[in-house]
Amino acid sequence: MEKTKQHLWWQEGIIYQIYPRSFQDSNQDGVGDLPGITQRLDYLQWLGVDAIWISPIYDSPMADFGYDISNYTGIHPLFGNMEEFDTLLQEAHARHIRVLLDLVPNHTSDQHPWFLESRSSRDNPKRDWYIWKDPLPDGSPPNNWLAMFGGTAWEWDEHTQQYYYHGFLKEQPDLNWRNPEVQKAMLDVMRFWFDKGIDGFRIDVIFHMIKDAQFRNNPVNPNYAPHQATYDQLLPVYSTDQPEVHDIVRMMRQVADEYEGKVLIGEIYLPINKLMAYYGTNHSGVHLPFNFQLLTLPWDAQLLSTTIDQYEGALPLDGWPNWVLSNHDQPRITSRVGIAQARVAAMLLLTLRGTPTVYYGDEIGMRDVPIPFEEVQDPQGLNMPDKNLSRDPARTPMQWDSSQNAGFTTGKPWLRLAPNFHRENVLAQKDDAYSMLSLYRRLIQLRRQEPALSVGSYIPVYSDNQMISYIRQAEGHDSFLVLLNLTHRPCYFKAKNLEIKGTIELATVPELEGTTVDTTINLGGDEAIIVRLSS
Ligand code: GLC
Repeated sequence: MEKTKQHLWWQEGIIYQIYPRSFQDSNQDGVGDLPGITQRLDYLQWLGVDAIWISPIYDSPMADFGYDISNYTGIHPLFGNMEEFDTLLQEAHARHIRVLLDLVPNHTSDQHPWFLESRSSRDNPKRDWYIWKDPLPDGSPPNNWLAMFGGTAWEWDEHTQQYYYHGFLKEQPDLNWRNPEVQKAMLDVMRFWFDKGIDGFRIDVIFHMIKDAQFRNNPVNPNYAPHQATYDQLLPVYSTDQPEVHDIVRMMRQVADEYEGKVLIGEIYLPINKLMAYYGTNHSGVHLPFNFQLLTLPWDAQLLSTTIDQYEGALPLDGWPNWVLSNHDQPRITSRVGIAQARVAAMLLLTLRGTPTVYYGDEIGMRDVPIPFEEVQDPQGLNMPDKNLSRDPARTPMQWDSSQNAGFTTGKPWLRLAPNFHRENVLAQKDDAYSMLSLYRRLIQLRRQEPALSVGSYIPVYSDNQMISYIRQAEGHDSFLVLLNLTHRPCYFKAKNLEIKGTIELATVPELEGTTVDTTINLGGDEAIIVRLSS
């Protein structure tokens, strides 16, 4: 049985992702900002989260809504200023909420002074800070690599007669991380924010940071389907996840280790076996390589339970797990699995072993909002218009109350709101014992109170094509059985070779709470329960 040894805050805690444009506007320009987040800290404290991760707030031309940075140590005026950032940090810490920022080291904006210098001439000292290549003899790009947001990843520069590489938009040139000056500059950015007192970084596309030294062509993806992004036509074998990236990750970890209690979370879309390498040998990698299994796999009980076990089994010794249901790049969980299953998903996220990340608005069951074509903002949506790839629907303003624009702004919101915000909002759900918000809050509270749920071991019990079940256990504390029905039909749980006795502590259907259960348990469709086991 798992001994309750000391765990670190980011192991016990729950992270909440804020997309700052859409959380709370304080100056009525229709875009969320830092003072807005500060105003809502009491809510986050009430909800019970331990840390917030704020998507980029830095100076940026906003070609990719802040993921194109033109100054890594400056705050974009849309979001506020440094004084307002300091206030946010102080106020969050006063409420025991840690603050994580988004570090985007793979690429800068094409308006960053580094790139302006780099592109000014071939012999500029910063030329090698980015990835410049000659054309092929026929003038075409140096290789076949594709950009995530459509088209070739190479942009021709008329002035200096070379191509530069951009894994995303042409306004987001990739830095050359093999250059020690680049390494030093970005590690100093990390120190700047750590010195200010932030608690960690979520690191954007960390697995893209080093490219094949020979820039070989990527192979064709034999499984490409036309609805997919054009990027998926090739397998990014040579443009991402190169072995040398781990040297860079290690450097970043060393910077974090110069301080105490900092966390690094890497954004990595890779299969489990490759993901694990980002923990590094002997804890030299990121603390948490984001685990996107729940976010990318079909909602299927057998597949998910196998994957959970596979992930648990593949973790390095003392590697700490983590789970994510939604983020600002993917459809929200409610829109993938429906509102009833989203409740089951919440229970899964908040009872698995490992740090959960909750995406703002998921706690009130916000859905993807259809954005009329003329209003689409996301470059991924605009560049591949017939593929339904816009990320705007999952980035709409937070629904606080039933007032104008759901209390988000009295100005014109940068993205339209869900039409049902009058009914679905924080205020309406706060005192409703059956709401999604109450479910989230109670799950969070239970997880905080019970060591078995926050840091205990994970023991798979039984799963089939409808349900997943597991026990969470910590020495000297109550154990819990979690039972989740991932379908709309009733199902039966019968623990084979295991005696179960206990009381339902928390359920997606609260009427079940307090009921005692034993070895055979019936669950209705879309139901999930947490059973406190009698010792
Ligand atoms: C990451 C971010 C995404 C951004 C991209 C380029 O995937 O999460 O929003 O567009 O990197 O920076």
